[in-house]
This record gives sequence, C-alpha cells and structure tokens, in this order.
Amino acid sequence: MKDKVVVITGASSGIGEALARRYAAAGSRVVVAARRVDRLEKLADELGNDLIFAVRTDVTNPEDCRMLVEKTVSRFGRIDVLINNAGISMRAIFEEVDLSVLHRLMDVNFWGTVYCTKYALPWLLKSKGTVAGIISIAGHVGLPGRTGYAASKFAVRGFLDTLRIENLKKGLHVLVVAPGFTASEVRFSALNAHGNQQGESPRDENKMMSAETCAGHIFRAIKKRKRELVLTFTEGKLTVFLGKWWPSLLDKLAYNHMAKEPDSPFR
Ligand SMILES: NC(=O)c1ccc[n+]([C@@H]2O[C@H](COP(=O)([O-])OP(=O)(O)OC[C@H]3O[C@@H](n4cnc5c(N)ncnc54)[C@H](OP(=O)(O)O)[C@@H]3O)[C@@H](O)[C@H]2O)c1
Repeated sequence: MKDKVVVITGASSGIGEALARRYAAAGSRVVVAARRVDRLEKLADELGNDLIFAVRTDVTNPEDCRMLVEKTVSRFGRIDVLINNAGISMRAIFEEVDLSVLHRLMDVNFWGTVYCTKYALPWLLKSKGTVAGIISIAGHVGLPGRTGYAASKFAVRGFLDTLRIENLKKGLHVLVVAPGFTASEVRFSALNAHGNQQGESPRDENKMMSAETCAGHIFRAIKKRKRELVLTFTEGKLTVFLGKWWPSLLDKLAYNHMAKEPDSPFR
C-alpha cells in the first residue's frame, strides 16, 4: 500500500480515523474527509502533512464530493482506493420516527456513497483500484429500531454489488464491509425519532471490537481484493448465515436481543 492514494470519508472519528492511521503507517498518501475539519487537521499534523491531506467534505453535498476528488487528484495525481465510510445511525421505531430522519440517513449513508463513487470512478478505473463501502450487519438483515439505517445500508450493498458486476472486465475491485458492533461515536450521534443526536450509547462500548482492529481487517481485505467482509462471529457471520437459512428464527433473536437495550424503543 506504500505510495497508494487512499481517500477515506468520515475520517474524523471511529473506524475512518483508525483507517487513516493504518494507511499512513503503511506509507500511503491519505486523503481524509469529513465535516469536522479541525479534527482532520489535527490528525494530519500528528501523522505528517506530507502523507495526510484534509478536505472538509459534507458527503450529502454532491459538489463537496466532486471537490474532494478534484483536490485529491490535483494534490497526488491519482486515486487508488476510495473508502466510503462516512455514516450515521438512528434509534427509533418507524411508527414514531419523523420522515426527515429517514431522508437524512439515506442522504449521508447512501447518497454520500453514490456521489463520492461517481466522481472518483474514472480515476479508480484508470488505476484499477478499489471502491469500498462500510455498510453494517444491518445491510444484510433487518435491525429493529433502525429502519432508515438498515434501508440505507441495504441500498449501499445493492449499489456496490451492481457496480462490481458492471465493471467485472475493467479491473475495478469492489469491497462491501459489514462490521459488527465497533467502539466509536456512531451510537452517540445516532438520531432519535425527532432527528436529534441521542448523545449517549445504549450499549457497553468497552465490550465491542476496537476501531483499530476493525480497520486492520478492512486494510487486509482491500489488499487481498476480497469482495465481501463480515466482521465478528456471533453478531456478524452467524447472523448473516441465519438470515439466509432460518430468517424467522433470526427475527425473534434480533427482537429479543435489541429489546434488552436500556430504553429500547420497541418493547
Ligand atoms: N461502530 C459500529 O458499531 C458500526 C457497525 C457497523 C457499521 N458501522 C459503519 O461504520 C462507518 C463509520 O462509523 P463509526 O462507527 O466509525 O462512527 P463515528 O465514529 O460516528 O464516525 C462517523 C464518521 O462519519 C462522518 N460523517 C457523518 N456525517 C457526515 C457527512 N454528512 N459528511 C461527511 N462525513 C460525515 C463523521 O464526521 P463529521 O461528523 O466530522 O462529518 C465521522 O467521521 C459508518 O458508515 C457506520 O454506519 C459502524
């Protein structure tokens, strides 16, 4: 990965930041994108401004995504890897949620991925590079209290799986990553029924996979040009397996598991 040019969206915290650190350690040129540019600049100062380039980007804005690609190419001349990692979550049942929350989830998670991929694609085809999308186990099976999140992640999976087939003969590598629960800020910024950040995590973040471990798995999967990565055994691989072969059992298990969260919205 030395000298490869890697663009990571949502790199101001969690998995995206850990990915930036992992690629910088491998000697890649890393372009970090997010809205909180102060955090990105701090990261660039820490890791070395010759390796890391911070670009303020709101992925819901197509013009920001176009500029992210343009600035990357004028700084480094190419793009080898695009990791569509920027994302937000939610926690509310559909019966109670404002529709604006579902629009917001789609705008960040789905449209953000589509815009960045659209503008980077010519460069990725040129380099026979990688486009990766960080979905979730909720991009394989339904997750109660997260209708908009699951819908957006299923949509990203459908989009990227199709992009892979369209470019089968052009050398484009497409990876779809489904992390299990990973310690990060995603549950703190998750939107409640009225679109406000819930501000706290309903789960024990200490018991989750670390963002660094998650980033290490993603780094290796991109290097090996894998098509799919599902992380964690019980919450990840087993869940996806049951969803395929015994979905009615999984419905009950998912309900019971998520209903145990403190203040679960659907008990
Ligand atoms: N942590 C988990 O348990 C878990 C599990 C499965 C999948 N995932 C997925 O992993 C990805 C990374 O999440 P994380 O867990 O690392 O959460 P996180 O710590 O909250 O990071 C989310 C990142 O997305 C960025 N972001 C949010 N809205 C954005 C926007 N409009 N434009 C640009 N960037 C935006 C945030 O940056 P700014 O706020 O600075 O813009 C932040 O850098 C997400 O797609 C998430 O759905 C996480």
